[in-house]
Amino acid sequence: MATVLPGQRTLVRGIRQLWTGTAVIDHAALLLVDGRVAWVGPEDGAPTATDHFDAGGAVGMPGLVDPHTHATFAGSRAGDFERRLAGESYTAILEAGGGIHSTVAATRAASEDDLVSYTRARLSEMLAYGVTTVEIKSGYGLTAEDEAKMLRAARRAAGPVDVVTTFLGAHARPPGQADYVDRVIGEQLPLCAPLADAIDVYCDRGAFTLEEAERVLRAGKALGLAVRIHAEQVAFTGGAAMAASLGAQSADHLEHIDDDGIRAMADAGTVAVLLPGAMLYLRDPSPPVARLRAAGVALAIGTDLNPGSSPVRDLWSCATLACLTMGLTVHEALAGITVHAARAVGRPDRGWLGPGARGDLALYDSPPGEPAELRVLVQYMGGHRAKAVFKDGRRVL
Ligand code: NIG
Ligand code: FE
Repeated sequence: MATVLPGQRTLVRGIRQLWTGTAVIDHAALLLVDGRVAWVGPEDGAPTATDHFDAGGAVGMPGLVDPHTHATFAGSRAGDFERRLAGESYTAILEAGGGIHSTVAATRAASEDDLVSYTRARLSEMLAYGVTTVEIKSGYGLTAEDEAKMLRAARRAAGPVDVVTTFLGAHARPPGQADYVDRVIGEQLPLCAPLADAIDVYCDRGAFTLEEAERVLRAGKALGLAVRIHAEQVAFTGGAAMAASLGAQSADHLEHIDDDGIRAMADAGTVAVLLPGAMLYLRDPSPPVARLRAAGVALAIGTDLNPGSSPVRDLWSCATLACLTMGLTVHEALAGITVHAARAVGRPDRGWLGPGARGDLALYDSPPGEPAELRVLVQYMGGHRAKAVFKDGRRVL
C-alpha cells in the first residue's frame, strides 16, 4: 500500500541493491523530502511522489564519508616515494627534514586561494566517486597563521561536499623548536579552534610523545573540540588508550595497538579509523582487526589522502584494500566508508539511509558485464564513478 506524505518529495526508484548503513535492500526505493530521507524500503511498497528519479537498476549507497584526509596541501613528494622505494624509511626521511617538512614548506609558500583551489579539485574528484563528506586536517602550516590558513582554505573548499576540519598543529616538530608544543597550545590553538571541529595529534615514535599528545588534546578538548589521534602507526605508544580516556571520536592507524588500547576504545565508543593506503605505502603490518572486532570497536576506513604516506584519492579502493590486507568482510567495508565513518567524524546524521537521515545518496553502475551488486563494488579495486549523487536531497552530480 502506498503511503502519502506531505512536503517536497522526490522518489528515487529502480535501485537494484541498496546499502542502508546496516542492511541490504534489493529492488529498493527511497523518498527524499526537504533534504532528508523520509522513507526507504522495497520499491513495491514505495509511497507516491510528484518527482521521480529512475536509478536504472543501479547500486545505491549513502553518500560516502572519508573520515581521515590531509587534502589541503601544496607541493609534491614524488621524490620521497623514490627514496622509500630505494630503501629509506618514512621516519628517517622525516627526521632528516624531508617528508612532512617538505610539504610544510610548499604549503606555507602557497596562498590561501591556491589551497582552496587545490582542495576543491580534490573534493570534486572525491564527489565523482560518491563521497559527500570529507574530514580534512591542518598540519602542514606549523605556525598559528599557516595552520589557520589551511583550516580556512579547507572550509572554503566545501560545497557540495561537506568538510569537517581538524586542527593538527602537532603533526611534526619544526627543526630547532624545543618549545613547539607550547606554541601549538599557546599560539596556534587560540587562532585555530574557531576554524576547527576537532583536534588531532601525531603521537608516535619520531613524532610527539604520549605526554605531549595528551597536553595538546586536553587543551583542544577544553575549547570544545572533538578529539582524534594518529596512534600506534610506526610504534606502540599508548596513544589510543589515552585518547579514548579523553572520549575521542576516533583513533586512527592502530597497526601496533595493544589489548588495553582496544578495551579503552570499546569502553569509550571510540571508532577505529583504518588507513590501508598508508599501511600499504609504508609497508606496515595490519592493525589487529580480529581483536578490534571481537571487542566491539566500530571500524571505519579512510583514504588518509596526503602527498607522502598515502597518495590515495579513491575511498572505494581503500574499502577493497581493507578487505584484502586487513581482513574486513564486505559488509564491514561498506559500513566502514559510510555509517562508521560518519560516527568517526561526529556526523551521525549521515552515512546511513532511513527516516531522518540526511539526503545524501550515491548511485553506481557495476563494472561492465558484472551484476548490480554491492559486493562487486568492493571486489573490484576502485574507479567506481557514481552515475548520480544527491546531497541534502538535491542532485549534485
Ligand atoms: O596519516 N602520519 C602522519 N600523518 C600522515 C602523513 C602525512 C604526510 O606524510 O604528509 C598520515 O599518514
Ligand atoms: Fe593522517
